[in-house]
Amino acid sequence: MKGIVLAGGTGTRLHPITQAISKQLLPVFDKPMVYYPISVLMLAGIRDILIISTPADLPNFRKLLGNGSQFGLKLSYAEQPNPNGLAEAFVIGEEFIGDDNVALVLGDNIFYGQGFSSRLQEEVAKLDGCTLFGYPVTDPERYGVGEMDAGGRLLSIEEKPAAPRSNRAITGLYLYENSVVDIARSLSPSERGELEITDVNRDYLQQGRAKLVDLGRGFAWLDTGTHDSLLEAGQFVQVLEHRTGVRIACLEEVALRMDYIDADQCFELGRALTKSGYGEYVMSVARAAGASG
Ligand code: DAU
Repeated sequence: MKGIVLAGGTGTRLHPITQAISKQLLPVFDKPMVYYPISVLMLAGIRDILIISTPADLPNFRKLLGNGSQFGLKLSYAEQPNPNGLAEAFVIGEEFIGDDNVALVLGDNIFYGQGFSSRLQEEVAKLDGCTLFGYPVTDPERYGVGEMDAGGRLLSIEEKPAAPRSNRAITGLYLYENSVVDIARSLSPSERGELEITDVNRDYLQQGRAKLVDLGRGFAWLDTGTHDSLLEAGQFVQVLEHRTGVRIACLEEVALRMDYIDADQCFELGRALTKSGYGEYVMSVARAAGASG
C-alpha cells in the first residue's frame, strides 16, 4: 500500500500565523505537525509516501524531509495549486498510486493510542473497498459524520451536517482500494467548489464496501484547526511526553522500531540534532537498541 499526506490548503483559520508558513509545518510541541501523520503511515507499514502541498510551501517540506531515505522511506512530492478538495489528492497522485491501494492522511491530524500500529496493519491487510476511522466528539457538525447500526454496520456518511445523526466524526485517515482513483476522477465539485472525500466514501458505502472502525475511548484524535486547539494539542503532547519519558511521532524512533533503519543509523540521526533534547532522546533510543555510539 502507498501513502499520501495531504498538507496543502490556505490555513486561513490560523491567520496570521499561517500567512507566511504552511500550517502543517507549525510546531506541535517538539516537532513539526506533519511528523504526526507521517508517523501514522509508517506505523501502518507504509514506506512509499507522497507529500502534497501548495507550490509555495512544498520546498519547505522537501527541506525538512528530503527523499526520506534517512527514515528508510521513499518520499515524493506533488503540488496542489488550489485547495480544490481532499479527493483531489487521488487525481494529483494518480501516477504515484499506480496499481496499488492507498492510504490518505490529512497533514493536520494527530492520532495517539496504544496498539494503534497493529490495528492499522490489520486493517490494511483486510481492506475491502474503503476503511474509515471514527472518533466520538462533542461537536460532530464540524466534521464528516458516520452513522452505524447496533451491529456496527455503517449506514450513512454526511459532511458537516447541521443535525448530525451520531457523534462519530470521521477522522482524516482513510484506506482505499485502487478504485479510489477512478471514483475521485468521476466526482464533480460540491456546492463549496471542492472534490469531497465524503462523496468518495459514499460511493463505497453504496457499493456496500465502506467500513468505519471505531477508535473510541482511550484513544486521542486531536484537532489543530484553531489557535486554541493547536495550543491544546501541543500541551497534550508535552504532558504525555514529560510524564512517560516517551516521545510521540518521533520519526527516527518509529523508523527504528519498524526496522526501516538500524540502531546505528538512528544514533547518527540523533547526533545531527544533538543540541536539542529531541536529538538526545533519539540517541538514547538508539543506544538502548544496541547502537555502538
Ligand atoms: O479532519 C477530519 C475532517 O477533515 C473530516 O471529518 C471531514 O470529513 C473532511 O472534509 C475534512 O474536514 P475539514 O473541514 O477539516 O477540511 P479542511 O478543508 O479544513 O481540510 C483539512 C486539511 O486538508 C487542512 O489542513 C487543509 C488541507 N487541505 C484541504 C483542502 C480542501 C488540502 O491540503 N487541500 C485541499 O484542497
